[in-house]
Amino acid sequence: MNMNKKEKVNRVVLIGAGLVGSSYAFALINQAVTEELVIIDLDKEKAIGDAMDLNHGKAFAPSSTNTWYGDYSDCEDADIVCICAGANQKPGETRLDLVEKNMKIFKTIVDNVMEKKFDGIFLIATNPVDILTHATQVFSGLPKERVIGSGTTLDTARFRFMLSDYFNVATQNVHAYIIGEHGDTELPVWSHATIGGVPVAKYLETNESYTPEDLEHLFEDVRDAAYQIIQKKGATHYGIAMSLVRITKAILGNENSILTVSTYLDGEYGEREVYVGVPTIVNRRGVEKVLEMELSDVEQQQLRHSVKTLKETMNPALE
Ligand code: LAC
Repeated sequence: MNMNKKEKVNRVVLIGAGLVGSSYAFALINQAVTEELVIIDLDKEKAIGDAMDLNHGKAFAPSSTNTWYGDYSDCEDADIVCICAGANQKPGETRLDLVEKNMKIFKTIVDNVMEKKFDGIFLIATNPVDILTHATQVFSGLPKERVIGSGTTLDTARFRFMLSDYFNVATQNVHAYIIGEHGDTELPVWSHATIGGVPVAKYLETNESYTPEDLEHLFEDVRDAAYQIIQKKGATHYGIAMSLVRITKAILGNENSILTVSTYLDGEYGEREVYVGVPTIVNRRGVEKVLEMELSDVEQQQLRHSVKTLKETMNPALE
């Protein structure tokens, strides 16, 4: 036994300290999620600066996160490698438009990580996230349950927030999922959306000012939220960073939490060989199980269309 081997602590390696990555680092530290946080970026000075800046705030955090600028050799002992690197959407660009550029970047990053015998869980945030999560699994060869994308976790959070705002009920009491591609073909699962256990369709009847048309617009606002934010401030980063922290906590805390991460489907929902956002039980092993809801015919069709769109974009890009 190697007596020098330190006591096992949780280590997250962040690759890509742009707006999303550094917001993730900031949120991780403020929520005291991991004992160690390693930051890797092509721009070494930026990553060093981030590590310094974050360490200076350590005295004010709920517990200390040891943060440093690192390199790929830090991945060997990592529990989670979170990739936020890559090009992001410019105003008017869709997430799928980014596939070629980011696929190339991912090949290099994932090869570098695997060269260091990484044996933990990949958490992917870069868009198009479902496709890059799938590519990471292919490039790394790690078991599918240990490669996870942020999927529609943020869209689901946006959906719950907007429903809570509309119905004036706390977000925690709104249960509703967005599933499918994290992008233009995602869909709301209205058939299982509830307010404190009351189906949304029934809840609409409790006040005559509520209308199904409003709900349609509400979903469009969820789906198009990133476009609106990018138009206004050039990028989205806080929401996605907080979603990543939520997933990281579910993994490191072995929570068995249900989150709409991007997960590999192997027959669930009648789909195969695709990574897509669906409610999934997440724990220390990564994906424990996909939750299969009974979808309405329309929802099933919409999910099929979303999966088809992902496959049509993914397959040529991988060749
Ligand atoms: C968004 C980006 C992360 O939806 O795709 O904000």
